[in-house]
Amino acid sequence: MSNINLDEFVKEWVDLSNEYKHLETTNINYLDSLENLELLQEQCMKQIKHQRYRMQQISKSVKQYINSKRLTTGENEKLIDLNNNLLKRKAQLYEIEQGLPQKNSLYLKIILGNVNVSILNRSDKVRYKDDYEKFKLILNVIGLLLSFLNIIVNYRALELAFIFLLVWYYCTLTIRESILKVNGSRIKGWWRLHHFISTASAGVLLVWPQGEPWQLFRTQFMLFNVYISLVQYMQFGYQKGVLYRLKALGERHDMDITIEGFHSWMWRGLSFLIPFLFIGYLFQAYNAWTLYKLSHHTDATWQIPVLSILFLVLFIGNTTTTMLVIPQKLRGRIKERYRLKSLSWAMKARRQNKTRDETTINNECSSNNDRYKAE
Ligand code: COA
Repeated sequence: MSNINLDEFVKEWVDLSNEYKHLETTNINYLDSLENLELLQEQCMKQIKHQRYRMQQISKSVKQYINSKRLTTGENEKLIDLNNNLLKRKAQLYEIEQGLPQKNSLYLKIILGNVNVSILNRSDKVRYKDDYEKFKLILNVIGLLLSFLNIIVNYRALELAFIFLLVWYYCTLTIRESILKVNGSRIKGWWRLHHFISTASAGVLLVWPQGEPWQLFRTQFMLFNVYISLVQYMQFGYQKGVLYRLKALGERHDMDITIEGFHSWMWRGLSFLIPFLFIGYLFQAYNAWTLYKLSHHTDATWQIPVLSILFLVLFIGNTTTTMLVIPQKLRGRIKERYRLKSLSWAMKARRQNKTRDETTINNECSSNNDRYKAE
């Protein structure tokens, strides 16, 4: 130690300070790019708004034109082309929007405050959705075990732990689904409302006092949960398959074949799942009926009619929405086709950009490394 001179430390510090200057320049470049990025995002949003406005005007004028006269065959063909182009452009605008930040919903603003939850990268979006599906799967397995255990053992603390888990699970789902919605998910309003209603139902169950009516309903409720957990496991299989295929679509070249393949797989998946879903809905209606009968019990409390109404609302909402999904999917085939195609174009373009960026970064890194090695 005695051989080392203090000047050497000073020299090292001077070296480090020179490197810091390089870091400062990089940081300035980074901040400039961020500012540019915000500017470009604003421009994109304005142009999307403009495109949508013009498309609306065109559609309106076309409608007026169709109503004003009989169309010739040539005009009809032109109209079909125009409609297809409008659909394609809608899908393209949706895809562009996926890379831009979106505003939070009121619910997210209340829960999370003013923090931006937009995910700008497509693969991160897919990962987040994947994570959401896995979260549901894990919690369902825990729910299945707990409800099964509750059928075997009648112990209040275990029962409360399970119901509390339901409150937390559904509440978390509402937050995650709101984040998914901000990031372009087309999840229907009903499924989100369904999870809000489920949170409320679990809350009411939590404060339902022990007594004869609860004991009469308890086993039926636990069996219902076992069944729902099993159905949700099947749903997980279906959603995972959809996600996997959508991801794969972006990597194929022959879109027509793969889109057809995707649709035939989807219909097979749906026709397997839907009977089980409807049995679940009938179970919900049966719960509503049992609770309605229990509400006439001498020891009945307010929780029983409230839960009966909530189960009835779930039965009606679920049945109607699932019945509407099928015709909607049939009608939306062309729209979906363009959405999938534009998804593939967008993914291809991003992959090319990524490869180009990686090459540039690699080149920059290797020149920096050379510089450091030389030092
Ligand atoms: N919960 C959460 N998200 C759902 C959902 C649900 N129940 N149903 C659909 N979604 C999502 C899809 O993942 C998709 O998301 P994305 O835009 O991020 O890719 C979006 O909503 C649009 O889906 P859509 O094309 O309308 O339907 P799908 O083919 O994905 O699923 C069903 C159709 C019928 C299989 C699905 O809606 C379902 O499982 N419904 C039953 C739910 C239920 O009844 N639960 C209670 C059990 S008793």
